[in-house]
Amino acid sequence: MTRPFALEGSVAVVTGGGSGIGRAAALSFARRGARVVVSDLVGERSEAVAAEVEAAGGQALGLAADVTREADLEALRDHALKRFGQVDVVMNNAGVLAMGSPETLPDEAWRRVLEVNLMSIARSNRVFLPLLIEQGQGHVVNTSSASGLLAYGFDRLPYVASKHAVVGVSEALALYLGPKGIGVTCLCPSGVATNIVEQISFYGQTSSSPRSPEHATVAAEEVGELTATAVTQGHFLVLTVPAVRDELVERATDMEKYLQQRITEQAP
Ligand SMILES: NC(=O)c1ccc[n+]([C@@H]2O[C@H](COP(=O)([O-])OP(=O)(O)OC[C@H]3O[C@@H](n4cnc5c(N)ncnc54)[C@H](O)[C@@H]3O)[C@@H](O)[C@H]2O)c1
Repeated sequence: MTRPFALEGSVAVVTGGGSGIGRAAALSFARRGARVVVSDLVGERSEAVAAEVEAAGGQALGLAADVTREADLEALRDHALKRFGQVDVVMNNAGVLAMGSPETLPDEAWRRVLEVNLMSIARSNRVFLPLLIEQGQGHVVNTSSASGLLAYGFDRLPYVASKHAVVGVSEALALYLGPKGIGVTCLCPSGVATNIVEQISFYGQTSSSPRSPEHATVAAEEVGELTATAVTQGHFLVLTVPAVRDELVERATDMEKYLQQRITEQAP
């Protein structure tokens, strides 16, 4: 349990908000009375989502921002303050995926994934946390993945590394920010129907995880609602597949047995 935060009347900034989970979360925040600043690498996408929010009776601003550039995040903060006067919720959501076998994935693939998925949070912390801390209230949402809790795919190591790091960073941030009146939510969805496949970089041969089909794919809208509810109720961990919790217990109880079973399952 982290700090509950009422979205009504608040201002929420979402990165990677032009599509999928970010778009859905922006719409869910707005339905609960938040004014939203939707940002994305692709500016037209942000503008389209902001227009959707406004068409539904909310208030929104759509901006281009690349989370790999600190100056873009600073400009995003400044535009949000200029238009709405405050920032209360920061959702670090932009994420990318690179796939390839462990022995072929180049540094370039590792760097891109870590820059977008992990270092973006380091930048966001520098840009937005001083505001939230000064206010003594607010909420941070970091989008990790079920791949940040369990290593599903051996052909996406940078993604697994980045998302595990996001879980650890979020937990540490919750410890730091809780006493300052700020909540933290770590979003760990399993499969979600989005446009993420559009921007996967492939390096050499990949094999899809044989375990993925076990986990139901959910709609992005469902994840948006779960995220908004987690913020308002002060929940830290958001899963979309309850079986992930059982698997975490199984893994923590006997790591050797757990891993041996998974290796056996994957044997050709
Ligand atoms: N789709 C899934 O199955 C799934 C599961 C678990 C976690 N996630 C995570 O959810 C988050 C959102 O992904 P999604 O599935 O909605 O994908 P998506 O591709 O539909 O949306 C991601 C958005 O991020 C934007 N983006 C990419 N690089 C960016 C950058 N450098 N700066 C700013 N924006 C950038 C893209 O333009 C896109 O609009 C990611 O962090 C992803 O890892 C997705």
